[in-house]
Amino acid sequence: MSHDRRMFLRGLAVTAVAAAALTSSAAFAQTAPSADKIIISGASGNLGGLTIKELLARGVPARQLILVSRTPDKEAEFAKLGASVRFGDFTKPESLAAAYAGGTRMLLISVGGSKTEPSTTLLKRAIDAAKAAGVKQIAYTSYIGISRGDVEGLAANHQQTENDLKASGVPWTMLRNSIYMDGLLRQGSQMVADGKAVIPPNESPIGYITRADCAAAAAAVLTTRGNENKAYDVTGPELLGVREVAAAAAAVTGKTIEVVQGDASTRPGFGRPAMAFTTTHFKELTGREPTSVRAFFTANKDKLLTPPAPPAAR
Ligand SMILES: NC(=O)c1ccc[n+]([C@@H]2O[C@H](COP(=O)([O-])OP(=O)(O)OC[C@H]3O[C@@H](n4cnc5c(N)ncnc54)[C@H](OP(=O)(O)O)[C@@H]3O)[C@@H](O)[C@H]2O)c1
Repeated sequence: MSHDRRMFLRGLAVTAVAAAALTSSAAFAQTAPSADKIIISGASGNLGGLTIKELLARGVPARQLILVSRTPDKEAEFAKLGASVRFGDFTKPESLAAAYAGGTRMLLISVGGSKTEPSTTLLKRAIDAAKAAGVKQIAYTSYIGISRGDVEGLAANHQQTENDLKASGVPWTMLRNSIYMDGLLRQGSQMVADGKAVIPPNESPIGYITRADCAAAAAAVLTTRGNENKAYDVTGPELLGVREVAAAAAAVTGKTIEVVQGDASTRPGFGRPAMAFTTTHFKELTGREPTSVRAFFTANKDKLLTPPAPPAAR
């Protein structure tokens, strides 16, 4: 059996456990059998793959999934289960009508721009094609800061795409995901390796959420009713800054991490005030608490204890 196949089967075993947990949740009880055909754009990406597994765990038959990717060959395992796997590329508008044909709900996963076109142009193209195909709900993975008025940089692009989606007339759901907790593993393992963590002077905490939890929230809005024309701020359970991340890394690994206040020479923090909040939206959607950093680090203890590789040279 190939490594990929083993990993895939292990993933399905995990989703079976997740399904058992979901059966006891309020959200799962709302999940009605349905003839919906659910499109996942960016199916072979990280969030796309996790969402497919969440949908299967919720009992959505693979034959009701339309998996759209620039690399459909990577979805062969899901095709074997009965999913419809199709080529679709936002930079090739002519590919999208066939890609979305027959779909009734869609998870539109945000992308960066191409060399020649901004993300807003690419995503509007997908929205227009989904509308033309008769899709009845588009859930878009947006950005947490929008709810608190952030309009800088990436936020402006997400805001534009939200506006385009609303203007399309297709019922929408905004999944304003907070920053992925997965990125904290690198930070935590560096702290463990250095025995030290430095708080940037401009620090603003973030309600980090795991990518897997973002997938669970996406699967919930695609399989339950009443999420149309609603925006969810999908956050983890707690606000985290350097001090809290260091405390979790130290507790999980048993290593000592000294926390010091940085000065003007310290690399600036990533957080912005518009990201500094948490909500209960994840629990309202899924019926369970979002993953804490302590639980996430515990599940990834081996990675925390492995010093991170230096960033790749550009
Ligand atoms: N919240 C956060 O902290 C955070 C961090 C980083 C990124 N993000 C955003 O969240 C999104 C999903 O995260 P992720 O980890 O799943 O990213 P990812 O693994 O890079 O997946 C994004 C997927 O988007 C699809 N895509 C890219 N360009 C496309 C195009 N021209 N046409 C059609 N599909 C295209 C690709 O799917 P196929 O390969 O299957 O075509 C790609 O795998 C990212 O794209 C980014 O916008 C959020």
